[in-house]
This record gives sequence, structure tokens and C-alpha cells, in this order.
Amino acid sequence: MDDSSPQTIFLKDYTPSNFLIDTVSLDVNLHPTATRVHSRLEIRPNPDAATRSTALVLDGEDLELDEVRLDGRKLDDSDFTRTDSTLTIPGVPDGPFELEITTYCNPETNKALSGLYRSRNIFCTQCEAQGFRRITYFLDRPDVLAIYTTRLQADKEMAPVLLANGNLIESGKNSSSGTHFAVWEDPHPKPGYLFAMVGGNLVCVADTFTTLSGREVDLHIYVEPGEEDRCAWAMESLKRSMKWDEERFGREYDLDVFMIVAVSDFNMGAMENKGLNVFNDKLILARPETATDADYAAIEAVIAHEYFHNWTGNRVTCRDWFQLCLKEGLTVYRDQEFTSDLRSRAVERISDVRMLKTHQFPEDGGPLAHPVRPQSYIEINNFYTATVYEKGAELCRMIETMVGREGFRSAMDLYFVRHDGDAATVEDFISCIAEATQTDLDQFMTWYSQAGTPEVVASLSYNAKERIAELSLSQVTPATPGQVKKRPLHMPIKLGLLGPNGDDLPLRLENGDDIPDGLIHLRATEQTYRFTNVSSPPVPSLLRGFSAPVKLTVNLSETDLEFLMAKDSDLFNRWQAGQNYALRVLTSATAGFGNGEEPAPASSFIGALAATLRDETLEPAYRAEVLKLPSESDIAREIGQNINPDAIHSAREWLRAELSRALHRELEELYETNSVPGPYSPEAEDAGKRALRNAALALLAALGDESGINRVREHFDAAANMTDKITALGVLTHLEGSARETVFDDFYEQWKDDHLVIDKWFALQAISSLEDAPSRVVMLRKHPLFSLKAPNKVRALIGAFANMNPTGFNRADGAGYELVADVVLEIDKFNPQISARLLGTFKSWRMLEPERKAKAKSALEHISSNNNLSRDLFEIVTKTLD
Ligand code: PHE
Ligand code: ZN
Repeated sequence: MDDSSPQTIFLKDYTPSNFLIDTVSLDVNLHPTATRVHSRLEIRPNPDAATRSTALVLDGEDLELDEVRLDGRKLDDSDFTRTDSTLTIPGVPDGPFELEITTYCNPETNKALSGLYRSRNIFCTQCEAQGFRRITYFLDRPDVLAIYTTRLQADKEMAPVLLANGNLIESGKNSSSGTHFAVWEDPHPKPGYLFAMVGGNLVCVADTFTTLSGREVDLHIYVEPGEEDRCAWAMESLKRSMKWDEERFGREYDLDVFMIVAVSDFNMGAMENKGLNVFNDKLILARPETATDADYAAIEAVIAHEYFHNWTGNRVTCRDWFQLCLKEGLTVYRDQEFTSDLRSRAVERISDVRMLKTHQFPEDGGPLAHPVRPQSYIEINNFYTATVYEKGAELCRMIETMVGREGFRSAMDLYFVRHDGDAATVEDFISCIAEATQTDLDQFMTWYSQAGTPEVVASLSYNAKERIAELSLSQVTPATPGQVKKRPLHMPIKLGLLGPNGDDLPLRLENGDDIPDGLIHLRATEQTYRFTNVSSPPVPSLLRGFSAPVKLTVNLSETDLEFLMAKDSDLFNRWQAGQNYALRVLTSATAGFGNGEEPAPASSFIGALAATLRDETLEPAYRAEVLKLPSESDIAREIGQNINPDAIHSAREWLRAELSRALHRELEELYETNSVPGPYSPEAEDAGKRALRNAALALLAALGDESGINRVREHFDAAANMTDKITALGVLTHLEGSARETVFDDFYEQWKDDHLVIDKWFALQAISSLEDAPSRVVMLRKHPLFSLKAPNKVRALIGAFANMNPTGFNRADGAGYELVADVVLEIDKFNPQISARLLGTFKSWRMLEPERKAKAKSALEHISSNNNLSRDLFEIVTKTLD
């Protein structure tokens, strides 16, 4: 490696900044290709710095430097040095001083979408993690907190709306030039990554919210003209979020105005900039005709997530980027709780765990495995991962399970009091929990530093003579890259023992102790519990509510699983029992298809499933979850090695057809009785009915017979909302023939002017299990509405193909891998965050059967042989191949 090859950054090397910045005054002249930024900084030496230095090193990237002034004196070229990423002034005063820097940047050519860029003519910024340095030279690190004043100026026609963080303190027209200005002041100290400014032709949808203490806050959602009628749900979600955070965590909003701006080109979902969130427009805009129930639910959850960051992330921020889970894991936990409180707790838990297992488990078991708090990185943008977010949230949830809901609240209260205005660490957070609830979390800390999904094996034996049930638990965490030796973790295991009628038996140990709330603490490698006074062999229900993010193996019979599916008082485990049962049937059928054998009949599984479906005490949304078979990637993960995606696909389709045949009448009845009359409402109750009805519809069509297909076509024609339309398209995309072509063409004609709906059209074709899917994707890449520069388009077509089309992506001839690798290299030239993320879809390549594995490897090597890779892509491809 030459010295230009990317450097690794280590947590252990953290040192405080040598300098602090107290105030930032920005004067920005927005211009499409040459935006001038004048920045005035009040800087002083950091009293907590490890060493005293008079060399000030600022971060900066892709900036054209105009001038630098120190305490008013213009510096010569000889007074400072510059590299591609720094500006160094070797001799600054050893007390406070003022630095003025004038630079230019080019929003128009910025396709990395980091820093200041233009999205369909709207100027906007994205500064997390390190985008602020692309706007001006700065100490661009989260532990440098300053108070910002931002003066924006622009042509009035080009950018009639000018926004920045905080409160608007002044605005007006400049007398002659056709330009105008706005001055925004944010009284809350913040790191540069929370800075934002926006300029453009936007319309404002306004509402207000009165806080707990009676302050009225303006709520402004800015969208492109013509989209005003698609903001109502986002606004409603915002108000619900504000209210929930007051009620559940005692957190009030702290500025006069809360603004959200929707933009079309955005690398991620949304961003929590102080008082000025910027959103991917697909997470704001919704009308029943254009957005599905899933879209509405995602909007509600992401609005909540970003709003909750105001306290967990903004008021208390992160000391360094290794602490990312401190804000993200905690905020995901909070948004999951919000959804659980507003909708159904059981359904939310199921969907969160599904998400965790689909995305985080493979990450944790593959070449990109890293701890929730990584110890090193090459490019921080590669660490906005399922591990940091989703597993990070699970750690918060485990803590809550151990200290209780009220204990958790009191610990959070302490955290906010103690660390308001701080750039904090995971240790700071954990200390607050430990102190407020008198809990020993020393062993628990290992969860933050140890990668890999722990494997827990449980077995229950019963001694009739002594009336004792003995539960043995063991844990082991498999080795991950760079971390071979693992330590036992402290995990909360919620459990119940079901007696003959399904009731939970009292849990009393031999020494007379009861087990409160059915919660035990597994700390050692092996632990045994002997429950007394058990009069008949119980059925264990373990890891209730998925109380720890582990892979659990239990010695249950099919009869036990059936019993749990019918009787478990824990709704999550009731669902899990059905999934485990299905996985048994599906893995053995996959083995069969691999050897050209017919699978054994699945009648007892189908019977158990039917019984759950008939249980009217279960809400429709829950029954819809029960009806969803494990996905092809769930089955692959269960099998674990030598994966043949075609055999998995055949097995799953076989079981769907079996269900369709055996439950035909029940499914038809579900379809009939769950239709939702009246105007569309996105609320959980109606959405749940639609989910159940649509799941029934899809299964009814699984035989591919004419009546099933006709029902789908009728469903499509009758559909008055996007949820129903998409369900029909989702069935038809897998079916050869004219029905598919006509319906997709009609859909295109109807929606070609709606960029969000067209993304669905791209994605639905990309996920087709038909033979021609890869060539169709290649063709659609050339479609006039497609663009590699627009992340939503890339995710819709290429991302959906790689993530949700296992037979297409893993085609035996390697066409799928080649297609994705080509796109990755193309995108890497201008948007490294997106190229690196897309390559993450190769993370499970080592699990494949040998021929596919070889094809995937050569696609990866094709990428790594390229010597102009971005730092982002370099890190991912190197680790994936290692
Ligand atoms: N911080 C954002 C969130 O989780 C995600 C994000 C990261 C957005 C980096 C843009 C860039 O809400
Ligand atoms: Zn977040």
C-alpha cells in the first residue's frame, strides 16, 4: 500500500480537540455553481486538551479557498498550508482569537450528496457525518460544539425560501440586486454535523403544537409546489411524536419552530439537523392513491425517529463517531417504543425482530461483522449499519427489560440532566443507568465491544418422581473477523413454562426463590435452573418477546411447537413457534428439492397454522404476520452453508402452494371478511385488515391457476389505494404472460409523472422471480426515468434486485453479481456512500454453494482490482474478500 491508501481510525486513539469553537457566523451566498461561504469563528485553546499546540488544523474538502483572516489580518499563502483535506495554520495565538475564512463550493456538481448540493433545483445540505467540511473549513468533529448564526442570501426567484437551524431573527430584500436574505440563529450549541441550510422554491404546510409547559411551536413542512396535499400524515405523525416524547420521556421541544424539508435526492432516509430536519421525500409525501400502508407506517416511524433525536443525539450528542450507537441505538429503541404504544406492541416486536434477523444477523455473521461500538473504521459512513442501529436498539431494550420501564425512565431523566449540552460516550449512558437503578452493568458492557450473534442452546428435562423441570442454558459467540476469542455475555432471558392447559406455571426454584416476571439472567457459559413442584412435563417458552438478540436452539418436538402456536401467552413467542415450525418444514423440503425428491406432506404444520388463523381473539395485523412464511433469506440463514437459492425458492413455493390448496376455503373467507369499507385510513386497524386480506389474496394465487390470477386482476382493477394495487402487482410480477405486461404498462402510463410511484414500478420488476429478471434490470437501467445519480432510483431498481430477489441476484451464471458490480463501480465515481452500501449486498457470499461462490468472488475481485476506488468502497470490498 502506498501512503495514499486509506487510513484506519481507532477508538483507542481518541484525544480531545486542541481547540474549541464557541461561535460560528456564516454568511452564505447561494449560487448553483459557486456558492460563497464566509465563516467567522471564535476559537480558543481547549483547556482539556492533552497537549498544548499553536498549530490549528481544520478539515476541508472540495473547497476553493479565497481568503483567511486571523484577528482581522489577512494571511499570506505562507501563513498556512493545505492538503486535499486540511488547512493548517501553524502559529495561532495561545488565547482566544477570531478566524475568518472565505471559500467557494459547487453545489451543482456535488453528486456525492454530502455537504451543500442541489436536489431538483433545491439547495440543501447533508452534514452527518463529515459533510460540514465540504461547506467550509472547520473542526468537523462531534465534540466541538458551537452556537451558530447563519445569514443566507440568494436570488429571490431562484430561492424564495431560505432556511437554517434555529429561529428566524431577520429577513428582507436587498435593495437593487433581486436578491434577498434571511438570518437564522440557533441558541443551542451543536456540532457541525447538525448544521443545515436550505434554499429553493418550496411551499410551506403549517400547523402548531402546544407543548407540555404551554409554549406554542410552529410546525413547518416544506415541499415542492404541488405536493402540499401529500403532507397531512407527516404533520399528524410529527404532532404524535411530540406528544409521546413529553408523556413517555418528559421531553419538550426547545425552539420556536420545527421545520422539515422534503427533498428527492438523499443518501439516507432522513436527517435530524437541529430544528431543520431534511427528509427523503418518500418519507414525507403520502396520499392513499400513491402510498402504501407500509409507506404510511414508515413515515410515522421516521418522523418520530428524527424528532426524538432532538434529545437523544442533539441536546446530548456523541463525543466521537465510535459512539454512534449512543444516539442511533437509543433513538431506534425510542421510535420502536413509540410505534408499540401507538399501534400493536406484538406486531411491532415481530416486525422489528424480522428486520433484525434479516439485516443484522447476516451482517454479524459475515465479513462485515463489527461491534455495536466499533473499535476502528476506515470510513465512518460505512458504519450506519443494522448493527449500530438495530442491534444498538436491542441493547437499550435489554437494559429496559432488566431495570424495568420506570427504572429506565429515571435513568434517562438522569442522563438528560447530567449530559445536556455534552458530547457523551456509551460509558456516560451506562453509568446513568447503573446509578439511577443500582444495577451492575459491568458484564453487560461486553455487548458494546463484542461482535457476533451469540448462540444459546436450551434443553429442558423433566423428572416425574421429583416433580422437577430442569432447564439448562449454554451460550457461545462464534468468532468474527479480528475477534476470535469471545467472552460470555450478560443476557436477560424471559421465559415461561406452560402446563397442560397452556397456562404459565409458577416458577419456583429449589431454594424457594421465585423468578419475578419470568426473567432470568444468563451470565455464565452454562447455567442450570431446577424448577420445583411441576406436576407434569411442561413446554418451555424461552426468550419471550425476543428478550435478547441471540440465536436460540431448543429441543422442542413438533407437538410442542403446535402447542406454543396455540397457547403461548406471549404473543411474540406464539408467532415465533409458527416460524420455527415452518423453518423445519422448509429446510427439509429444500434438502429434498436439492436432491430431486418430493417433500414430505406438511399437513400438521398447515393444521396448526389454520388454527391460529381462525383465532378471532388475535387482531388481523397479527394474523397477517402469522400467515407470512419465513423469507427465502430466513431459510438460507437457517441452513447456513452450501446455499442453493433455487432449491430454497422451490421449497418455499411448494409450501405456499400446499397452503393454498389446503386452506383454500379459509383463505377465501379471510379475503371476503377483511375488506375495509369506507374512505381509506392509514391507521393500524384498517392497515391490519388490509394486510391480512392481501396476504390471503397472494396465497390464493400461489397455485398459479386461472381463478387465482383472475381474482388478483380484479383486485387490481377494484383497488382504490396503493396498498391494494401493489399487492396485486407483487403477485403478477412473478407470473409469465400477458396479464403481467398489460398491468405493468397501465400502471406506468398512469404514474409516469410521479417519481415516487415510479420507484415502486422499478422495484416490482426487479424482484420478479422470472428467469429474465436480470436482463430486465439491465434494460430498465437505460429507462429515461432511471438515473444512477438518484439514490432512490438506485435503491428501487438495483437495491431491490440485490436484496429482495435471491434467485435473480444469485443466478447460477453470475449475471446478477456482474450487473450489481457494474453499477457499484459506476456509482463509486460520484457517490461513494451509495456504492459502498450497495456492495454490502454481497456480505453472505461465503454461504453459497461452490459455483455461485466462485462467481460472486470474481465479481468482488473485479471491483477490488480497480485502483481508483473511494475510501468507502475500498473498505467494504477489502473486508468482504478478506
Ligand atoms: N442520522 C440519520 C438518522 O439516523 C441518518 C443519516 C446518517 C442521514 C448520515 C444522513 C447521513 O436519522
Ligand atoms: Zn437516527
